[in-house]
Amino acid sequence: MAVDMELEAVLRPIQYPMVPYPPKVITLANGKKMVIRQAMREDVPAILKSVHPCLFIERDYYDIVSARLYGELLAWYRYRVKSEYCLMGQVDGYLVGVVNGRLEDEKVGMSYHTLAIDRGLRIGSHLFAAKMEYHIEYLNQDAVLIVAESPIGFRRWMVEYPLEATKIPHELGGGDSYRLTREIYLKAKPRLVVGDRPVPQDLMDEAMADIKFADDNTIRERIAGLKGR
Ligand SMILES: CC(C)(COP(=O)(O)OP(=O)(O)OC[C@H]1O[C@@H](n2cnc3c(N)ncnc32)[C@H](O)[C@@H]1OP(=O)(O)O)[C@@H](O)C(=O)NCCC(=O)NCCS
Repeated sequence: MAVDMELEAVLRPIQYPMVPYPPKVITLANGKKMVIRQAMREDVPAILKSVHPCLFIERDYYDIVSARLYGELLAWYRYRVKSEYCLMGQVDGYLVGVVNGRLEDEKVGMSYHTLAIDRGLRIGSHLFAAKMEYHIEYLNQDAVLIVAESPIGFRRWMVEYPLEATKIPHELGGGDSYRLTREIYLKAKPRLVVGDRPVPQDLMDEAMADIKFADDNTIRERIAGLKGR
């Protein structure tokens, strides 16, 4: 597709400079090692292969969350969103979870979505914690605005941290935003933010080599159980 770069200069939003998220490794409850690392824009098509099967899983709001995530990642890929980033979790090279968000301005972050593609291991919880770590510790922001789309999400973020309620509208257009401040983050950090750095070279090489995706049936079974209910 030919791209008119003069018009693109108008259509493309500004990007704030963002320091990279340093990768880390977390040992999950099943003993497997999950590498959390930052995705590059070029990784989006590979990530979408694992998000796509989730579009058709109604259980626990996987459908709406993955549809939105799919669109947000495409918007990033096609330069139609301001300052988005994406972090991902990989086990044995397979994509097991994705989080994304963006910078509203230098000091305030806008949290988008968290998707756990394997369940029962707190993969989503670890990835959400990594996203908050990125905003507060590496991007040096003061606050992150968050909404939940599912009861599990509400339990995991609003209740577990706990986040503070505000009257600030959220970009996703749901209920008003909850806010993670630096103070809330630092208080929750010892309980919720884990992981080791640096990632051993062999694990890092495996993660970087390929973003593997499980087949549709395996993903459906992992998320919704054997009968796909
Ligand atoms: C919200 C989410 C990211 C949390 O991920 P997580 O921390 O890895 O947690 P899990 O999804 O594995 O488990 C959540 C609960 O469901 C239960 N659960 C685990 N596996 C399950 C399965 N296959 N089917 C149904 N429930 C399951 C767990 O027991 C857990 O209960 P707990 O809260 O008492 O620990 C994840 O559930 C998800 O991706 N949901 C769909 C998208 C979504 O709602 N995103 C957040 C939007 S705000």
